[in-house]
This record gives sequence, C-alpha cells and structure tokens, in this order.
Amino acid sequence: MSEPRRRPPGPAWLALPALAAALAWPLDPGRAPQAPPCAGDLRAPYPESVAEPDLYCMALLPTPRVLDASGVAELRRPPGPFSLALTAEGGIRYRVVLTTHGLPAPAELGAYTTYVAWVAAPLLSSVERLGQVPASGTALLGEVSLDKFLLLVSAEASADAPAPGGPFVLRAQSPSSRMQPADFLEFMLGASSIPAGDSGMAMTGAAAVEDGWGAIPMPAGITMLPAMMELRPRVTPWRPVSAGTVVDARPRELVRLADGDSIDLDAVLVRRRVGDRTLLGYGFNGQIPGPLLWVREDATVTVRFTNRIEWPTSIHWHGIRLDNRFDGVPGVTQEPVLPGERFTYRVHFRDPGIYWYHPHHREDVQQDMGLAGNLVVESSDPGYYGPAHREEILMLDDLLIGPDGAVPYGLERATHALMGRFGNTMLVNGAPSYRLEVRPGEVVRFLFTNVSNTRTFNLSFPGARMKVVGTDVGNFEREAWIESLPIAPAERYVVHVRFPAVGTVPLVNRVRGVDHVAGRFVTEQDTLGVIRVAGAAVDDSIGRSFDRLGAHDAVRRGIDRYRSRFSGPIAHELELDMRTRDLPLVVDRLMQVDSAYFHPLEATGTMPMMNFMSTGNEVRWILRDLDTGAENEAIDWRFRVGDVVRLRLRNRRRTLHQMQHPIHIHGQRFLVLAVNGVPNDNLAWKDTVLVPVGATVDLLLELSNPGRWMLHCHIAEHLEAGMKMVFTVEESASPR
Ligand code: C2O
Ligand code: CU
Repeated sequence: MSEPRRRPPGPAWLALPALAAALAWPLDPGRAPQAPPCAGDLRAPYPESVAEPDLYCMALLPTPRVLDASGVAELRRPPGPFSLALTAEGGIRYRVVLTTHGLPAPAELGAYTTYVAWVAAPLLSSVERLGQVPASGTALLGEVSLDKFLLLVSAEASADAPAPGGPFVLRAQSPSSRMQPADFLEFMLGASSIPAGDSGMAMTGAAAVEDGWGAIPMPAGITMLPAMMELRPRVTPWRPVSAGTVVDARPRELVRLADGDSIDLDAVLVRRRVGDRTLLGYGFNGQIPGPLLWVREDATVTVRFTNRIEWPTSIHWHGIRLDNRFDGVPGVTQEPVLPGERFTYRVHFRDPGIYWYHPHHREDVQQDMGLAGNLVVESSDPGYYGPAHREEILMLDDLLIGPDGAVPYGLERATHALMGRFGNTMLVNGAPSYRLEVRPGEVVRFLFTNVSNTRTFNLSFPGARMKVVGTDVGNFEREAWIESLPIAPAERYVVHVRFPAVGTVPLVNRVRGVDHVAGRFVTEQDTLGVIRVAGAAVDDSIGRSFDRLGAHDAVRRGIDRYRSRFSGPIAHELELDMRTRDLPLVVDRLMQVDSAYFHPLEATGTMPMMNFMSTGNEVRWILRDLDTGAENEAIDWRFRVGDVVRLRLRNRRRTLHQMQHPIHIHGQRFLVLAVNGVPNDNLAWKDTVLVPVGATVDLLLELSNPGRWMLHCHIAEHLEAGMKMVFTVEESASPR
C-alpha cells in the first residue's frame, strides 16, 4: 500500500486545541487535533478532516448596531448510529455550534444582560430558542431540523427569554435557503405543477410519447418545464418480452442449508403481479424475492447457478467475506455467466447477520426486475439479537411503473445515470402491501434490506417505539432508540419494535423531496405496510426487557482490538465526484441553477426527465484518489491481509450535480469512525456506508480477505456510470 500521509495543519488551526477540548471535539492522542469544520479558511476546498463548509457552515452577518461583530455556525451531525441524522418526517437534524466574535457587552445596547440565539422559519412564522451565546466565544446550542431557516442572535434581558425581545445583532440564512425558483423565462414560460394526490408525490401524471419509451410517470406536486418533457435517453429502449411459456412469480421460500449442503439457483423470466398490474420480471427459482437462504455461522454451501435470462449475469454475495473466486464480479473475479451457462459458487459464511445476493452485471435492470434474495447467517449465540416475540425479514424495493407497464431500461447503457432509477411503487418482499398481525405488547424484530436501485428510505412505525440492534455485518456495541431508520441501497439494519396497544400501526417512509425547479421542499409519505395489533395482550419478560437498552459486550470487546488504530494516519482519501458532457442545453442550465445548493440527501425522484434522459454517456460518476488523482478503474490500491487502515471518503459538493452515495466494499468489513469529524461512539461492522452530499466519512477498514475486490457506489446507475474501483489484498508475507 502507499505511504501514509497527512496534510500539515494550516496556521489557522493552531489556536484551536482549547476550543476543541471545550467542545469535546475529537482529539487524536499524539497528534494535532482535527479542526472544527467551520474554523480556518472556509474558502479552502478541504479544510482539515471535515465537511464542505458551504453546506455545513453558516457565516453570521452583523446588523448595523454591531458592525464589527461576526459569527460562524457549524451545522453538526448529532451523534447517532447513522451517517445522516433524520427526523421521522425526513428533516435533517443538525446540532448548532455557534462561535461569535466581537459583540459588545450586551449592556452597551440597552437594558440587556446576555445574548440568545434563535432559529426561525424563513418568514419568521416560528421562532425557537436555541440557547445562550457569549459576546465572543463558542456555544453548543440546540438542534435544528427545519428545511430552510434563519439563525438569529439577539440581546436579551434574561437568558431564558421565551421569544426575542431585544435587538437582533447577528443573522444568517441556512445553506438550503439559497435554493431559489429557477428563472422560468430562461426556460420558456409554461412551467406547470402536477397536483398532488393523497400521498403527496405518488407519481400520477404521465408524459405520453410513441417513441418506444412509452409514457413516463411524473411525480405529483413537482414543477415541470415543457422543454424537459421532450427529453429522452440516447439509448435503445429495452423491456423484456415473453417468448413461450413464462412461469408466474412465487413468493420466496425459506431454504435451510446445513454445512456442506448445495442448492440450485436459476435466474428465470417470470410473470409477476404488482397491485393490479401484470409485469414481466426476473426471479431466482421463479421467486421474488429470491429464496431466503438460512445458514449457520461458519457453514459452507455450494450454489449451482444457471443463467436462464437473456443478459449475461453472475451472483454476488453481498457482505459475505468469502473466497475471492466466488465473489461474483464479472471481469474481476469471474467471466460473466452467459445466457444458458452455469457457474458453481462455494460460499462460506463467517459472520452472523443479514446479507443478500444479487447479480453484478447491469444491476439497474436485473436486480430491479427481481433478482435479489436475502441470506440469514444465524449466530451460534441464540441470544445474539436479544429477546423478541417474532422475526420479520423485509426486503425493501421500488419499481418505476407507467401507464404502459414498467418504464423500459436502456439497452446499451443504464438510463437515470444522474440520480438512479427512483420507482413510484414501493415494495416489501416484492409486493406493494405488506401486512402483519401481532398481539398488543409484542416485540417484533425486523431485519431490513434495501435492494432498490437508488432510494434511501426513512422508515418509521408511528405510534410504536423502535430501537436499532444491528446492521450489515453484526450488532452495534449497544442498542439505541431511534425515531426513524434511514436505510440506503444495500444496507441492512436489525431493529426491535414494540407494538403497545390494539389498533393499526403503518410502516411508513417519510422524506423531504426537493422541487429543484421551484426551489422548495415537498413532503413525501408512502405507506409500505400495515401492522394490525389485536387480541389479548402479551405481558412477559420480552416486552419488559424491551424498555432497557441492551449492550452487546462481545461486539464491543471484538472492536476493542482495533481502537488503537482509530487515530492512525489516513491511508487513502477518496473524493466522490462527477462530470458531465453533451447534456441538452436545458438540462445543463437547470443544473447550473440547481447547484447553488445540494441537499445532503436526495430522497426521492423529483427530476424525473433530466434523470431519465441521462446515461453513462452524458454522466460519469467518479471515485478519485486524492493522492494520485487516479479515477475509478485507474486506482490501484494494494494491501496485505492483516492491514487495518483508515480511509476517508469525501463527497465533493462543488460540481454540477451532487448526490449521496452508498459506498460498498466487497469481501472485507469496516467501522464508520466519524462523519464530518464527529466521532461515532457506538460502532458496528459494516460493508456499506451512506456518504451524504458534501460530507466526509472516515472508515477503519480491516483487510482480512485476500484477492481483488471492488469498492463502488451501490446506486445501480452510478455503478453503471463508472463509480467503481478494484483494490488488491495480498496474502501476508509471513504465515500468521
Ligand atoms: Cu451488493 Cu458490488 O454489490
Ligand atoms: Cu452513487
């Protein structure tokens, strides 16, 4: 591997240790402290270690009474199990850290004794107290989760003034406030907004065209420009056709496999019912989702795979630290399995947890059409997850269905390269209406896997408490209460939910969408399922133990071995970026307007036409090694088995379009050490991490498995548009 390296801290950071200590900012033992994000030169492309100041720092301007004063607010991620802190409604939660400079003593302004910070809605329709601030210094204030907001500082007679009474001295608008309506004249008049139905953005309208693409569904409530409606991808539309007999898709079956067992898996064309629609899809053994494979920790099973679909394909065993030969990546670990051909996988299951399998070729088509199955690796510890009355294994997905059926895919290249193919029909285990019946007081363990091409869900069960227990490659160090579960493509989470009383509890996805043309946020809510709570209440030790947050001491002890490495040098720094070419003028212009602000999470498909028309020809998504400048497949990292390295992922904000990226690393496991410089204090082993727009995520990657492995974005269309690389792990030189 390449030499560890550090950028020398700039002079601006030198005065910061005391401040950092006061704010409990992470101090790496034996090293210069990392700088708080909003200190130093905010114009530098990368201040040491932290997020893009443009999205996560606000400069406060003085009002005319205090012209020499200034302030900077950091929008800090509150600590928690996810790389993005969300409210159940989908708002982004920030902790405000405000540093003021040069305010006069409050008494100089009148009968005042202190300064107080406030957060206000843009038109001051609501104002909330954030906390007291010094005339010069730093204060850790309350949380903000409004879409657009103002920060205000006023002089007050009392520190606990319920509303601003004295004069305002500092003010700033949130970065999201820069999002303004596009200048319609530039795009011609006639923009229209499709009226919202009940569910806000259920895609209702349709642009009808007879060009082989069929009618493209439009999200309700989103402003569309006429010129946009004409856009089509510059590839051949492809949709499956049924030649001969097609089997009806069946729900998945549970298959328990003992050590040494084998199973046949065939990828086949199926006919599937989705609500009142009949579509062609693909299923492993005719099932959607694919068979639920249940194995014990440490088992090895043989999978004889046959490709009976018309695309080349393969099976990748997502999250499994298996033998590199069986990782299922065409061109890296095996030849593609051509139509009619077979491949035999031997899969060894080393870590308990919830995993999944899917093709690793044109996932935008094959996985979307139904080729995805879950794998449960049962721990040898029967109490691994803690007590629950029952267990539900739920695979989340979405499909893009227009009036003519599923919207065609691109034959030569994936469509939807900008944002990925957001669907308009939400699926749980392949069907649009998930139902569960439980008794009052029951604790249900849900094991969620997000197999959608691009959608990050924000799940909650309104009226029921939820705690997170585990994720991709095992449990967290300890359980934690959560108000919602953000889950990005390819991530898994294990949660416990207690249903307290008779009634119905929906499983909902609630997010904030961005209407890019109108420059505003919109609400999207989808009900993915309904839990009916009925019958006699259960009252037992399981229900009572739910109220306590359990600790997973074995996980913590396992991670203890790595703690001394948390502050080591950064081995590699990857920048997540993109480039465009040959975009239609209207798309390019709108993207320029849009780039004033990128929301940390693009949670839904509110640019349907721009997104649809973009392919890997117009859009290239990039992983860039910041040491060498090498991009995607030109990156050549080398490690040895036993290496434990820090990686830093930086999601670049200053470009034409940005998005969050769920970054997946094959064949190994990692810890998410910190996001935007805020360390995680409750760790779990993962294989996929969501990197929000403009954010910096630090990983500790353990290289435990030799071979050539991929690192890529798990948005299927970003992967197709280039966002991937391969690294090599060599056997360690000396026998271990
Ligand atoms: Cu589930 Cu390379 O991915
Ligand atoms: Cu991506």
